[in-house]
Amino acid sequence: MAELPPKPHAVLIPVPLQGHINPAACLAIKLAARGFAITYVNTEAVHHQSSRARRSASSIDHDIFADARASGLDIRYELISDGLPISFDRAANPIQFLHSLLYVFSAHVEELMRKLTRAAGPPITCLIADTFFVWPDTIANKFGIPYVSFWTEPAVVFALYYHIDLLIKNGHFASRENRKDAITYIPGVPAVEPTDLMSYLQETDTTSLLHQIIFKAFEEAKGADFVLCNSVQELEPEIISAMQQEKPFYAVGPLIQAGLFPGISVRTTLQVESDCSQWLDSKPAGSVLYVSFGSFANVSKRDLGEIAYGILHSKANFMWVLRPDIVSSDEHKPLPQGFLEESHGRGILVPWCCQMEVLSHPSVGGFLTHCGWNSVLESIRCGVPMLCFPLQTDQFTNRKLVVRDWKVGIDLGRIEEVSREEVSKRVDSLMGGEEGNEAKKMIEEARRALESAVAADGSSQKNFDQFVEDLMGYRS
Ligand code: UDX
Repeated sequence: MAELPPKPHAVLIPVPLQGHINPAACLAIKLAARGFAITYVNTEAVHHQSSRARRSASSIDHDIFADARASGLDIRYELISDGLPISFDRAANPIQFLHSLLYVFSAHVEELMRKLTRAAGPPITCLIADTFFVWPDTIANKFGIPYVSFWTEPAVVFALYYHIDLLIKNGHFASRENRKDAITYIPGVPAVEPTDLMSYLQETDTTSLLHQIIFKAFEEAKGADFVLCNSVQELEPEIISAMQQEKPFYAVGPLIQAGLFPGISVRTTLQVESDCSQWLDSKPAGSVLYVSFGSFANVSKRDLGEIAYGILHSKANFMWVLRPDIVSSDEHKPLPQGFLEESHGRGILVPWCCQMEVLSHPSVGGFLTHCGWNSVLESIRCGVPMLCFPLQTDQFTNRKLVVRDWKVGIDLGRIEEVSREEVSKRVDSLMGGEEGNEAKKMIEEARRALESAVAADGSSQKNFDQFVEDLMGYRS
């Protein structure tokens, strides 16, 4: 009998942050379910943190893919150092963390690749790495394998970074005083106001570590053989088509676990999750505003206070994820004194939760969000309209998509200019006013688009199939 060819083997390396790990874990399962062997590479620090978070929920601790493996999927798990001691506080020292990812991490990746190349088992077919890394194309070339760039944000953000040279040439970025008129020349991208650009591109100083990372990462992305994007064709059709003129570019989103892989759960959380189901059960349908500013962004104490009083003066019940590090200073009580007592049972505060479970709960009727891309996709997937309060990075561009392009949410405005009265007005408008009702109608359409995209004959499924076919036919 003829010997079967070895199965394709992808080495998958996410950026070690919550918002990047979540979609990467989904991608790992999707590929493994298609017959790939996956080597999922985690950092020791993330492994340590997520094991601790999971152990508090269950006495048995396995790696995050134990369930998937038990279901027959071939997902191997490798740990490497990100260059810093496990106990180092990365959230409190982001510059040192980025520095290490920029200058030290790649050496550990290369060492692992050498080890995997020598190991028994299927030869490595491709390197799938987060687009924000500054080394994947270089390393993939060294090993003679294709680089698949994994983009965890919307296609429009990819396109804007990809064409950063056009922004510089036209004076919208990196000039002494960046132009203030709309950007109309990025292929496939309708007019973008400079205030809708990613925060790093709104700055005039281009010498920061983050800028170096962006410049280098997109140099590498230009060398990528394939790009997988966690977006949906129906949501960004022109931009995705324009990117396809540049590169093999596949929209395969939304990469959200819930319901996507029946019988397999992957608990990627890095924090201990509070169970709020009983409290949510006690509230009427659609009455709760869910508030969360994602996994790492900071809010000033003043802004938090305005938002808190605004929510207190609104009619909404609320569930607020208040991370201990939400305010960057050493402030242990970021909310106004007596805030929770004054809400008279209308609200709860938790340090972290299972966001998808909360958004899927019938009592949740709105989401006050920082517009992280995973949060936007999850909110659409659950049909919960958004109140947008972007804080940094792609969140400003994501707000434009939510508020102006798809009309599935409303804007909280620039907080320095908005009074607490304005916040409470907008919360009430989202939760029961005309604007909120309109957003609710629109989000139902978007929800259906996301649902059908991942169905057997949906766009994301077809794009995923096409990617697998193209990868298998690829010769570097
Ligand atoms: C940043 C970027 O803004 C985002 O666009 C990028 O894709 C990742 O990095 P982040 O702050 O991580 O964002 O937010 P988001 O993208 O929304 O991801 C946060 C993830 O944490 C979501 O998947 C959300 O479900 C999860 N989460 C958040 C929880 O599980 N529990 C919580 O209490 C809060």
